[in-house]
Amino acid sequence: MRKPIIAGNWKMYKTHLEAKDLVKELKEKALPAGVEVVLCPPFTALATVGEELAGTEIGLGAQDLFWEEEGAYTGEVSPAMLRELGCAYVIIGHSERRQYFGETDESVNKKAKAALRHGLKPIICVGESLAQREAGETNQFVAGQMEKALAGLAPEEIPQVVIAYEPIWAIGTGRSSSGADANQVIGMIRQTIANQFQPALADQVRIQYGGSVKPNNIKEFMDQPEIDGALVGGASLKAADFYGIISYQ
Ligand code: 13P
Repeated sequence: MRKPIIAGNWKMYKTHLEAKDLVKELKEKALPAGVEVVLCPPFTALATVGEELAGTEIGLGAQDLFWEEEGAYTGEVSPAMLRELGCAYVIIGHSERRQYFGETDESVNKKAKAALRHGLKPIICVGESLAQREAGETNQFVAGQMEKALAGLAPEEIPQVVIAYEPIWAIGTGRSSSGADANQVIGMIRQTIANQFQPALADQVRIQYGGSVKPNNIKEFMDQPEIDGALVGGASLKAADFYGIISYQ
């Protein structure tokens, strides 16, 4: 059985003081059972959020990392730095990083390997553009992103990996995928992992849907057999909305 995982990707929102307030508000509510919850604040708020989360069941994640151990890489953050702050997860290859910051399938692969080497679970993001969807290229494109992201991983690392299927046209637009469409692509992603590794390993990988997930549509996604959680942007920035999402049951 795969335990559902719902993560809040705060993107470039919340100073560390604002972050503290948001976590405090979230902590006032009882955490629903049966779902793993993860918060991914900006780097500058990781320490603060980590301290606030101490003693709770809510996990901490970063939004990116660099694959080198250490060195003269101005502006970058290493896996060990994230681990020391208590991160268990790290988002890799978000479409915004691919679009604005030159992230490629190759750098995603290097980052995934570096994360796993340091005991961080990567949340690897894949997803097609509107033009690709309209041209009927979704499956082929997403399968290609998947194969390149996981190339060269050891089989025993596969169950540690989380995939987030985020169609680019659904991010921040209020236009989410339908549950059935997301389930179809996510099933295809699982099949890709099964082909590249083994079906028994693919069955253990948690695959999230992301893109305009809100309290009023989360259940449609969670009811789908292939969908194991959500990666939430905008609706993770308000305690009431995020709580509405994590308590979907
Ligand atoms: P929204 O939930 O704001 O559409 O963002 C989704 C996302 O990009 C999460 O990583």
